[in-house]
Amino acid sequence: MKPFNRVLQCAALLGFLLATPIKASLADEAPTGFDGLSNGFILQGDYDHDQELFEKRHTVAGGLGPVFNAQSCAECHANPVAGGGSQVSVLRAGTFDGKKFIEPPGGTVIHDRATDASLQSKVADAWNVRTQRLSTNTLGGGYIEAIADETLLKIAKRQPQQSNGEIHGQAVMVDLIEVPGAQRVGRFGWKSQHASLLSFNAEAFRSEMGITNSLFPSENTANGRAVDEFDTMADPENNGWEVALLTEFVRATKAPPRDAALAAGADAVAGEQVFEQTGCGICHTSTITTAPVDTLVNAGTFKVPAALGDKTIHPYSDFLLHDIGSGDGIVQNGGPSSRNKLRTAPLWGLRTRSRLLHDGSALTVQQAVKRHQGEAATVMEQLKALSAVEKQQLFKFLDSL
Ligand code: HEC
Ligand code: HEC
Repeated sequence: MKPFNRVLQCAALLGFLLATPIKASLADEAPTGFDGLSNGFILQGDYDHDQELFEKRHTVAGGLGPVFNAQSCAECHANPVAGGGSQVSVLRAGTFDGKKFIEPPGGTVIHDRATDASLQSKVADAWNVRTQRLSTNTLGGGYIEAIADETLLKIAKRQPQQSNGEIHGQAVMVDLIEVPGAQRVGRFGWKSQHASLLSFNAEAFRSEMGITNSLFPSENTANGRAVDEFDTMADPENNGWEVALLTEFVRATKAPPRDAALAAGADAVAGEQVFEQTGCGICHTSTITTAPVDTLVNAGTFKVPAALGDKTIHPYSDFLLHDIGSGDGIVQNGGPSSRNKLRTAPLWGLRTRSRLLHDGSALTVQQAVKRHQGEAATVMEQLKALSAVEKQQLFKFLDSL
């Protein structure tokens, strides 16, 4: 057995021994469900009202456009309930000149729709970096936001020890838009480009729907061209109340549940052990505990409430960036070194996704797993060495997520 393999197995065993008592004694399991019910952060009546806003079809009279991608949050975040992911993808592009990544005029998002044909944004032939990004799941986002920076940094620190230095997740410090000058460990989006739900949602409101707001007061552009003459409303088009309620909604969603029947099967139970022993769990972290109740996060602007604090979650992600050879070359908030890295895709809710990897380029779980190289190379060797039965157990486990 190679030393790396031994390190992996010790790490898996240690992880198992440590995880068990932590789960039982200190923290409660976070509620899970695709049931449209509040996780307790807000009353059900408020949840239903916020969900209506999440599903609300915006019009030009309400600030939509002039360039945008869709008319409601739920157009892209819908499966199987409002807040989930979907097959809808967003286009991003730019240029790599051999040394550095250069943003195109107006930023990397290329808006697919416009209220006037003359504003249609497009990828220029000269831009050699192009990608599509699938809409990610937002259910359970409140728990992700409630993870302390130190917890993510601790995971990053232990990864090289678990893998002879091969795996080294990058925690990117990103700006908190709501507190100028303050930063926090990024965790949302394919590039962990935002650290708070308010930051992410305010940008989504502007970038995806073209609705400017107090945190993102300037309009999208059409490939860098100002759209003022087509904009009928003064910016900011929304004073922020709507983004606040959309944020309340995402914070109140339950985490994606396992398929209870599949999860209880003997193969899936054995498969989770295979997942850990193979080293998948070094990046796809199975268990994380959120910060204690009353902890101040987001630079002091959000006090972790009882519904979100001290909760055990099973996201199967470390929320860190890795290069597994699938990178799309786009630089967002993580700096030049993040160009070809992606956030470890959280595997909770995996069974609701028909297209996989950031760009939907894998259509089966097997294909997505096969694409892992780079930092995951040795784990992939371990995978190849598994018996046919162990492999079958591993994929049964993945099917239950
Ligand atoms: C046109 C489709 C589209 C619309 C409309 C849209 N989103 Fe998204 N959303 C995406 C995509 C694509 C991603 C992944 C973005 C990336 O990382 O490049 C995403 C990611 C997110 C995330 C991060 C979740 C995570 O952990 O990765 C949140 C939160 C979110 N969106 C909230 C919203 C809200 C709130 C709205 C409405 C104001 C909205 N989105 C509208 C496509 C959309
Ligand atoms: C070095 C970190 C790392 C290791 C080890 C790793 N993964 Fe991943 N995994 C990632 C990253 C990063 C992505 C996202 C890649 C992308 O979208 O291009 C991903 C994506 C996936 C996806 C696609 C999920 C989706 O929603 O698109 C699956 C399935 C998956 N991994 C399973 C596994 C399994 C099984 C193993 C063990 C054999 C494993 N991974 C090992 C980092 C890792």
